[in-house]
Amino acid sequence: MAFENVCKQSLLYEGELVPCMVGDQEIVIMWPDGGQPRAYEARCPHEGVSLGCGDFNGRILYCGAHGWVFDGHTGKCLQPTGWEMKEYPMRIEAGMVQVDMAGD
Ligand code: FES
Repeated sequence: MAFENVCKQSLLYEGELVPCMVGDQEIVIMWPDGGQPRAYEARCPHEGVSLGCGDFNGRILYCGAHGWVFDGHTGKCLQPTGWEMKEYPMRIEAGMVQVDMAGD
């Protein structure tokens, strides 16, 4: 495990999606209403368009490119099914959001 700082915890809000860069890789921190923030690769599993530009309503994330729909709590694709966003281990330490980009 090699956690690295991504952003300040104070930038995260329940019901919001925060895009961040870790080196040259874009990730998103998605905090669904009533849930916990989790870190995901920003590349849409369809054709790789950035989900950091997607539309998140606190429950559902819509990819702006072709409208694939993701569950805000799990990152699983709801439409079409059978796909999911790649999740990274995430923790909060001393007010910083940390992500392990090598973790599964
Ligand atoms: S790239 Fe996201 S739906 Fe096509």
